[in-house]
Parts: sequence; structure tokens; C-alpha cells
Amino acid sequence: MIPTLATKRNEHNNRAAYLPFGAKRDGPLRHQHILSVKQFTPRDLDAVIAVADEMRIIVERIGAFDLLHGKVLAVLFYEPSTRTSASFIAAMQRLGGGFIPINEVRYSSVAKGESLPDTIRTLEGYADVIALRHPETGAAALAAQYARKPIINAGDGIGEHPTQALLDLFTLIKERGALDGATVTMLGDLKYGRTVHSLARALALYNVKLNYVSPDILRMPRELVAELNARGIQQTETSALQDVLGATDVLYVTRVQKERFANLEEYEAVKDAYVITPETLTHAKADMALMHPLPRVGEISPAVDCDPRAAYFRQVEYGMYVRMALLAMVLGKA
Ligand code: CP
Repeated sequence: MIPTLATKRNEHNNRAAYLPFGAKRDGPLRHQHILSVKQFTPRDLDAVIAVADEMRIIVERIGAFDLLHGKVLAVLFYEPSTRTSASFIAAMQRLGGGFIPINEVRYSSVAKGESLPDTIRTLEGYADVIALRHPETGAAALAAQYARKPIINAGDGIGEHPTQALLDLFTLIKERGALDGATVTMLGDLKYGRTVHSLARALALYNVKLNYVSPDILRMPRELVAELNARGIQQTETSALQDVLGATDVLYVTRVQKERFANLEEYEAVKDAYVITPETLTHAKADMALMHPLPRVGEISPAVDCDPRAAYFRQVEYGMYVRMALLAMVLGKA
């Protein structure tokens, strides 16, 4: 069960004003931690996507507004990031709020050995919401056990990256118009890739078909395949992209992550397993969407960037609108 701000607050200071997890709330995600895609209902996803689209329109019209004036976001990142950290900060700024960036934990008291719970309890004295990235799976859930303020999982090791899944869904809808009926092919590092773990779970709430393309040693975790199988999702696995490319509506490419390998020889053996080039796209549907959470290191040739199917930089921008929506929703302002 996902620990909620409500129940933690009740434990901490015996206030009874908060509802238990799963109870009817006056706004989806209000006062909730965002830890895993598993916590979302279809209603939650619809709400995030709708609010994100409103944020997009407002940003395009006026750039920024003061919805979260007086609120502060702490960005606590124990792993490198460009998009997630920058888009959370930009999201808070465009909503009129402030932020505390701790992107370089080696310059914080973490370098002196401070524990994650103590760091969280310190930052929540200054901030209203904390976005946390950490190399260990389950770190965000651990932080949530100590937090009185909402924790947003911004990536926990090889576990999940739920806000990426939300922006991926938003991108899919923007690119295709709808999710139902889509065939989504995930390619690359499916074993360690937290983005694909979260996205596969999120897509399982829709009527989609999933293809997994990876080297044998980087296959989707068996427990996740079994979980989605039990939910009736049609899944196909192969190591050959050509087996499924022609029937693919969305090709979601991921980086083979050197930092996740204990054995660098294994990494070297698979790092160049797939490279998407203009020639690859000649075998794809004319309206296929090509997505990637980024960063890329060679798995999509820059020569593909000018193809209208290349959606990954639009995907980056959509991330800010989705994170604006999430911040507004967890802080009860949407
Ligand atoms: N997609 C993503 O998480 O990118 P960053 O690692 O740059 O945040």
C-alpha cells in the first residue's frame, strides 16, 4: 500500500483532517505522495493529462502565473539529471513558486553521511513538496514514510519513474490523439529501464498492445510481464525490431544504461544492439511516433531528428506541463 500524506500526518500530529488512501478526495492526487504508477486510477491519469493541457495553453498564452505563489519545491537529486530536475524547477517557477535545488548532493550534508530520512525531515521544514531522485529502488517510498509533505518520485534506481510515465502518456495522446488501440513497442534496456517499467504499467490501464524488443540479457523483468499478463495485456517479446516495427504505432527507444551494469563487458556487448536511423524509419508507419525519455547516447541517429515522427524533443517540453499539473494537484490547487 502506498503510504499517504494523510495517514502520516495523522500519525505525526494526530490531526484527523486527512482522508485515507483510496477514499474519495476533492481533487485527484491532492495531498498524495507520487511514488509509483501503481497508485494511479484511470481518473487520476485523465485528470493529470487534462490539467497539463491547461498548463500548456496558459504557458503558451502568458508564460507564467501565480497559482503556487508562496509555495516551495525542494529538488533533491542523488543521481544526475537534466530534464527531470530542470522541468520541475521550470514548472515551479512558471507557477509563481520558489525552489531549493540540491542537484549536487556531494555539496550537501549527504556528503557528511546524513541519512535520507534526516535529509527529508530537514527539507520539509523549508519546502511544501519534495521531488526526489535516488539510485536505490524504493528510496522514494522510504522517504514517504518519514515525510509530512508530498514526496514525488523522480526516479528510484531501476524501479520507477512515474512522472516520466505521465509525460509519456501526455505525449502519446498529443502525437496520436488517443491511447486505446495503439501498439507500443519498447526497445533497448528493458531490464534496468525505470521509464519503461512505469510506462508499461501506465499503459496497462488502456486498451493497448505491447511489444518488447531487447537483447536477451536486458529483457523486461519477469514479474512485470506476469503482472501485466494477469491484467490481460497482450505482450510480445523479441530481439529483432523488424519482427514488430511495421505494426508499431509508437516506438519507445531507451538507452542502454552503462551505470546499471556491474560487468562492463556485458555492457560493451549490448550497448550498440539497436540504432534507429533514417533507413530504419523507411520500414515504419508514416504516422508512427518515435519517443525516447532521453538522454540518448547513440541509439537514435541525429539524422532522424528532422523526421516529423521524431517526437522526443516535444516529449521533453510536455514534461514541464505535466510537472506543473502534478505540483498544482498534490498541493491542492488544481
Ligand atoms: N528522462 C529523464 O529522466 O531525463 P533526466 O535523467 O535528464 O532527468
